[in-house]
Amino acid sequence: MDVNQVDIQQIVTKVMMAINEDGQMASASASCGTVPGSAKVALLTGLEKLEVKSYDIPEITDDEVLVKVEGCGVCGTDVHEYKNDPFNVIPLVLGHEGSGTVVKIGANVKEDMLGQELNVGDKVVTSVTLTGEDEFTRFKPNKTNLSNEMAIYGLMTDDNYHFNGWFGEYIILRKGSSIFRVNDLSLKERLLVEPAAVTVHAVERAKTTGLLKFDTKVLVQGCGPIGLILMTVLRTMGIENIYAIDGDNKRLAMAKKIGATETFNFKDYSSFDAMKDTLIDMTGGGVDFAFQCTGVPSAASSIYKLIRRGGGLCEVGFFVDNGDATINPHHDLCSKEITLVGSWVYTFADYVTTFDFIRRAKGIGLPFEELVTHEFGLDELNEAMAVNMRLEGIKVAFVNR
Ligand SMILES: NC(=O)c1ccc[n+]([C@@H]2O[C@H](COP(=O)([O-])OP(=O)(O)OC[C@H]3O[C@@H](n4cnc5c(N)ncnc54)[C@H](O)[C@@H]3O)[C@@H](O)[C@H]2O)c1
Ligand SMILES: [Zn+2]
Repeated sequence: MDVNQVDIQQIVTKVMMAINEDGQMASASASCGTVPGSAKVALLTGLEKLEVKSYDIPEITDDEVLVKVEGCGVCGTDVHEYKNDPFNVIPLVLGHEGSGTVVKIGANVKEDMLGQELNVGDKVVTSVTLTGEDEFTRFKPNKTNLSNEMAIYGLMTDDNYHFNGWFGEYIILRKGSSIFRVNDLSLKERLLVEPAAVTVHAVERAKTTGLLKFDTKVLVQGCGPIGLILMTVLRTMGIENIYAIDGDNKRLAMAKKIGATETFNFKDYSSFDAMKDTLIDMTGGGVDFAFQCTGVPSAASSIYKLIRRGGGLCEVGFFVDNGDATINPHHDLCSKEITLVGSWVYTFADYVTTFDFIRRAKGIGLPFEELVTHEFGLDELNEAMAVNMRLEGIKVAFVNR
């Protein structure tokens, strides 16, 4: 479905109504009949300590949905939470990039966010849950990503539900959840939906500068899952002049496979300036537009030097506070007249664009599913975290076997 067909206002209103409604009359819920009495989750009980626990699965209400988890991507944010608890939510069940099958559905839950019928057996993903009203949910529905009134499964402190994150055998989706039916996507595609929505949003932000065109020379700095998916999005838009920088040859090889014109391993150069001179020569003065996808402050500082005068930059790389980055406002910003945008997560509409993007990527044969390089079971999640921290592979995933 094209994003233009979706009325964002309608979507947000629907979620807000669901949150604000008084309790509905109880009525029968549908289930597939094979739900066990108890199930396991991986609970983060302390720093770097994921423990598999078993809990009774509570009876769902008429506004809730019970999902049997098939898998969930492991994200850099999970690793941050695992190592440092920056969100102060321990104990919790992590995992926000998940997907699974509806096994029980409350009588009041009839359709997904797009108005598609929702039934037992459907494959689903979720986006954020709006938990209340503020200026963004009330007056700026296409800026709900900036609202503080949101919760996300996989970053909620443990409570009586227990099944609050996708690192488990089941998850309970509460009233007001944003559920999307995605039966036509493969499991790997579904596990990549959430990070893909981050990159779709970044590209939407970049488009507002008016600088992203067919022949734009685009730099993607940082070839982790975010940078590589972003490159895939650019390819589906017909952007062919893509320059990729990373320090890891496996990731750069994947960038090439996705279609990067040139790749640069910054470790192969004696200095940043040596790499810069090569890129400036190659692009005839610098790239037209750059996406900063590293999370490394020094990279956020130096990227300006690679952009031509009159060019643009989208800063995506900092979901967490990794410290300050300095620039020279005269050389880097004013004299070049750089158009700079920041990008913060996604809106519900970005999810719709993301589903469309994934179908297009498949349609033109891009290696999207290949970005999922590692799979771990529920009792192997400590190892999954370690693999992620060592930047082995690309997208590490938890998969229920
Ligand atoms: N803006 C948002 O809403 C949002 C959402 C999700 C993630 N993020 C951020 O996006 C960033 C990337 O996410 P990811 O999952 O791909 O992380 P990642 O750590 O897997 O990838 C980062 C990549 O940057 C490379 N890198 C490091 N220093 C570099 C340098 N100087 N030049 C070029 N490349 C360099 C690393 O080798 C790595 O491959 C993270 O820092 C995360 O916080 C932002
Ligand atoms: Zn994530």
